[in-house]
Amino acid sequence: MLTVMASPYPPADGDRPRIILDCDPGHDDVIAIVVAAEHTDLVGITTVAGNAPLARTTHNACMMRDVLALECGVHAGAERPLVAPPKFAGFVHGESGLDGAELPNPRTGPDSIDAVAFLVESCRRDEGLWLVPTGPLTNIALALRAAPDLAGRIAGISLMGGGTFGNRRPLAEFNIWADPEAAAIVFGCGAPIVMAGLDVTHQFIVTRSRIDEVAAMGTPFTDLIGDLFEFFSGNYIARHDGIEGAALHDPLAVMALTHPALFDGTDRHVAIETTGEHTAGMTVIDRRLISDREAPNAHVLEHVDADAAWRVVGAALRAAGARAVM
Ligand code: RIB
Ligand code: CA
Repeated sequence: MLTVMASPYPPADGDRPRIILDCDPGHDDVIAIVVAAEHTDLVGITTVAGNAPLARTTHNACMMRDVLALECGVHAGAERPLVAPPKFAGFVHGESGLDGAELPNPRTGPDSIDAVAFLVESCRRDEGLWLVPTGPLTNIALALRAAPDLAGRIAGISLMGGGTFGNRRPLAEFNIWADPEAAAIVFGCGAPIVMAGLDVTHQFIVTRSRIDEVAAMGTPFTDLIGDLFEFFSGNYIARHDGIEGAALHDPLAVMALTHPALFDGTDRHVAIETTGEHTAGMTVIDRRLISDREAPNAHVLEHVDADAAWRVVGAALRAAGARAVM
C-alpha cells in the first residue's frame, strides 16, 4: 500500500478545487461539466467510453467545451474497458449519448487522443489535483497503472459510482459494472476516495418543477438543457417504478468537493467484485458494526441536501446560459 499524502476531505470551505473531470457525456455528465466550470479550476476534461462509444462521448464533451468557452482541453481516452467487452447505455441516454435536443456541433475535435498521458503529466506537474471520474474508471486505472506514484500526488478521487444497490444489474451500478477491473485498481490505489453512489444520487431527482425552472430561464443554452432533461427524465419515469424524474448522478461527484457541507457520509472499506456471475461490478461496502471490519479506503456519501444542491445546479445553469456561445 502506498504511503499516501495526507489529503483533507472535504477541501476546506472556500477552497476552489483543481480538478480533471473524466466523463462519458451523458446527460448528467453535462451537468457535472457545468458545475465544474462554475465552481472549480477545471484543468482538463478526459473522455471515456460508457454511456456511448468514445467517439460520441468525446464529441459531446467537445461540444460542451465550445458552448461554455472552456479554457481547458478535452482529451480522448479509452474506447473499451480493461478486460470486459465494451458496454454502452443507449437505452438511457440514446445512441448519441445526448439524445433529446438539437445540439450544436463542436468547432474542433479533442485537444489530444491520449487522456492517460494528459492525466499522468498533469498530476506530476501539479500536485494536489482531484480526479473526478463520472463514467467507467478505465482511464483512471490506466493512468494509475502507468504511474503508480499518482496515488500519492493527487488530492484524491471523487467518483460517481457504486452503491448498496445497482441499476444496470441488481447489485451493480453502471460505471463500476462497465469496467470492474478498473474500479478494483482505483479503489485499491491508496489515494483518498469520495464515492457518490446510487444511495445518494437517487436523492437528487430532476423533478417536473426543476425542469420547468430551467425551461423558464430563457436562454438558448438553458433551453437545450431543458430539452435534455425532458428526454432524460422521461426515460427514467418510463423505466422506474414511482420515480419523479431522472437521478442527477454525476454533478454530485463535483459538488462533494465544491459544496461538502451539503453531504453526510461515512468512511467505509469498499471492495469491488470482479468475478461473481450475479455480482460482478458490485461495490462491497463494509458497514459491519464490529471492530475488526476492514480499514476504510473511501468516504461513502449517504445523504445530500437535495434542495440546496439543486440551487447550486440552477445557479450554475443560469450563469452558463448567460455566457454560452451557441
Ligand atoms: O449509473 C449512473 C452513471 O452511469 C452516471 O455516471 C451516468 O452518466 C452513467 O455514466
Ligand atoms: Ca456518467
